[in-house]
Amino acid sequence: MKKVNLEELYEKGIKMHHITNTAYPLRPTSFLKYKITGNNETKELIKKDLENVDSLSLYVHVPFCQSRCKFCEYAVVSGDDYNKKEEYVKALLKEIDMYKEIIGNKKILGFDLGGGTPTQLETEQIRIITEKLHENFNFDSNTEMSIETTPVVAAKDPKKIKDIYDIGYRRISMGIQTINAKLLEAFGREGNNNIYENAIKNIREAGFKKLNIDLMYGFLNQDIEDFKNTLEYTVKLNPEYITLYRNRYKGTKIAQEAEHVTLKKVNDQYKLAHKFLNKQGFIAPYGKNTFSRLKGDYGTSDYLTKRVIEGLPYIGMGLGAQSYGYKYLAYNEGASTKTLQNYFTKIEKGEFPVQDIYPLPQSEAIAKMVSVAFYFAFVDLDCFKKRFNVDFKEYFKDEIDFLLNKDLIEFKDNHMLVKEKGVENVGGVIPMFYSDSSREELMKMDKIF
Ligand SMILES: C[S@@+](CC[C@H](N)C(=O)[O-])C[C@H]1O[C@@H](n2cnc3c(N)ncnc32)[C@H](O)[C@@H]1O
Ligand code: SF4
Repeated sequence: MKKVNLEELYEKGIKMHHITNTAYPLRPTSFLKYKITGNNETKELIKKDLENVDSLSLYVHVPFCQSRCKFCEYAVVSGDDYNKKEEYVKALLKEIDMYKEIIGNKKILGFDLGGGTPTQLETEQIRIITEKLHENFNFDSNTEMSIETTPVVAAKDPKKIKDIYDIGYRRISMGIQTINAKLLEAFGREGNNNIYENAIKNIREAGFKKLNIDLMYGFLNQDIEDFKNTLEYTVKLNPEYITLYRNRYKGTKIAQEAEHVTLKKVNDQYKLAHKFLNKQGFIAPYGKNTFSRLKGDYGTSDYLTKRVIEGLPYIGMGLGAQSYGYKYLAYNEGASTKTLQNYFTKIEKGEFPVQDIYPLPQSEAIAKMVSVAFYFAFVDLDCFKKRFNVDFKEYFKDEIDFLLNKDLIEFKDNHMLVKEKGVENVGGVIPMFYSDSSREELMKMDKIF
């Protein structure tokens, strides 16, 4: 690792706090220098890379939404593409088949059906996708399948929610985001108490005992009272888990608002939420986004938990899905365009529907894993060693000394924990673990996006 001025890097990271978050790399173009092309080359890379692992997770993306919420950053389709669900499922099944031979008998330790809104599909389509995955791959018997819905769908279609439970999903997640009607209207998102309460009734009657509700903060016109009301209301709904998402503005329809949202504002919001939720029995260490009222349960899906703690490789299928192999990163077609056509075209040609694929040097694979670890606000040093065969404290010796000196982190039971001050300045802490080239990229940035 090149010698850099860590103080300058830290200050710059804090300044660019809207992008120095758990999502790595910094920009969609950051890894272009590693990119390889060609269907055979792609297949060979994935095959060779996965020879290094005997277990992994799967993520399947279903991009459909009635309309795109203005704050949303994901690969979502609505409008004309919304009516291409049948074609999409056919293409997805073909993609799943492409991975059959490559993944072979490796253990599947996590699986999320995410979106978009997977419950916008018909029940039969969800069943066919799920069965295909189980036919093709070796799911561990303990792997718990997780699915996402919106409250609107869950409220409207109790039978579908029950069928999803019967198909085998045991964790379900939906977003409320905010109960402020004005904000919802400004974001173009439907929602009210009646919808939320019916959604929960249907989810409980279907049998789900693991329900997560997503809330968002860091919006320009969301004051602290607003946020408090949303938190209080959500606790009363009694989910098992509550996940707080600080809005990431990059690539959204409200990106121009980011520069007016201060670090103090988001820190105050998180602090309030952490105190309130812990008091209400929703527990999380300071800095973690998912709060759980079940003891010993991180609250996230198996897929996400293993990704965050162990850096477990995952294969993403479907529009725009991201894959993180042992040492490669890939984004499927649609990640940039957020439209279906290129994804369909590649599948029709019998090609992997990959938009970009990058074999990664070790420093980038490490930076990717450690950035994501901040989702839980700790790094498990044993998991790190197992994943990369290097000692965390040796590899990041100077950076760790710097962070310890500033009282931003501490070590306990072979974990690096982020202290409260570290959480509040996490945008400065995360870049300490970046590769040389990402550090350079960050130092050269002058605009947020
Ligand atoms: C893929 S969405 C699926 C949930 C479902 N479609 C819904 O809206 O209820 C998962 C969560 O990501 C969060 N999210 C969406 N856009 C985001 C952004 N720009 N930054 C941070 N989190 C975001 C929201 O809280 C959302 O519930
Ligand atoms: S937040 Fe959910 S419903 Fe809204 S556009 Fe994103 S994925 Fe779709």
